[in-house]
Amino acid sequence: MNLSQKKILLGLTGGIAAYKVADLCRQLVKAGADVRVVMTSGAKAFISPLTLQALSGNAVHDDLLDPNAEAAMGHIELAKWPDLIVIAPASADFIARAMAGMADDLLATLYLATAKPIALVPAMNQQMWANTATQDNISLAKKRGLQIWGPASGEQACGDVGLGRMIEPFEIAQKVDEFFNHKPLKGQHWVLTAGPTVEKIDPVRYLTNRSSGKMGYAIAQAAANLGAKVILISGPVSLACPLNVERVSVESAEQMLAAVKEAVANADIFLACAAVSDYRAKQSSDRKMKKQDDNGLQLELVQNPDILKWAANEADCYCVGFAAETDNLEEYAKAKMQRKGIEMICANDVSRSDIGFGSDYNELAVFYQNAGQLKQKALGPSLKLELAHELVIFIHSIIKS
Ligand code: C5P
Repeated sequence: MNLSQKKILLGLTGGIAAYKVADLCRQLVKAGADVRVVMTSGAKAFISPLTLQALSGNAVHDDLLDPNAEAAMGHIELAKWPDLIVIAPASADFIARAMAGMADDLLATLYLATAKPIALVPAMNQQMWANTATQDNISLAKKRGLQIWGPASGEQACGDVGLGRMIEPFEIAQKVDEFFNHKPLKGQHWVLTAGPTVEKIDPVRYLTNRSSGKMGYAIAQAAANLGAKVILISGPVSLACPLNVERVSVESAEQMLAAVKEAVANADIFLACAAVSDYRAKQSSDRKMKKQDDNGLQLELVQNPDILKWAANEADCYCVGFAAETDNLEEYAKAKMQRKGIEMICANDVSRSDIGFGSDYNELAVFYQNAGQLKQKALGPSLKLELAHELVIFIHSIIKS
């Protein structure tokens, strides 16, 4: 394990597993990491800050309102400092406060003030873990892109047996190592489209669709996490740009095509996740169109360019398409694959309200060419972020084979 030059902020919250984090801190420092420790008042009831100060070689941060600590390294500076934040043990209370956006102690404030990757390592009584409140908070944390490491199952300090134990320090250290050093997509260049397109009719009206961009953004994040260089060409959505991803914002299909043409020059993979508007107004007006006296209006539409088809024919990269269907999923997806000349298509059923457009969940039927045969692989149902990770790993395995 080599963590040299890696800056890790280790946050401890109140739980009996806090004593094990002394060993974790030692392992991270031994692997070369620069570790700074933040403790909540609950954590200090279980383990002394002096122990973690001695093991990390740095003063422990524990107070939001301490002028001396703020003078040494203010909380905003501390929030910007790490490459990774690991919160272990993460108590049910801390997870709830973080998900509610509270800033009532130093660690919760750092959670709010940071843009850095965060891993939560939950540790709590099995009933507290199983509680719907905690489970809802964990789902929200995953949706916000936090990594959740564990918990493990087994005997608990309180005598209960079940899911809720903190995973062991060596497992946490392994996951930290994996986070920094397991980059199977390193050297690969991915280009993605995501979100809807917006086709102008006049300065206040446009044609668009219900795509939220969540699936494309999740895939961009997953590919970047695994080490790829990622360019995300996005229609208008209300999502933050994923970490370590370059976003190019566009509105119309024609703008999206122009951005794709520029971006795919050196790409290995082009993944078209955007819901591109099939049509645009033949003529858009620079002035607001006025209501006519008769109550009808003819709007002439022309077809937009097919971006994926262009890439499949002209670009020198592996092209993956998406097919959102309400019926005949398999038949339409396969026909689309042929029509566009692509080797892989991910089909999802948008007639279902529990997955697809706008939802945080999705399920995909992936059709792909492999060794001259058309094959199928089912992924999900799962959170779009988890599904995205599985899909990226799957695409990688296919292009390598
Ligand atoms: O033809 P259809 O819209 O059903 O195909 C869906 C797939 O093609 C998606 O991957 C979508 O991003 C892509 N597409 C495109 N340009 C279009 C229409 C669709 O890239 N004009």
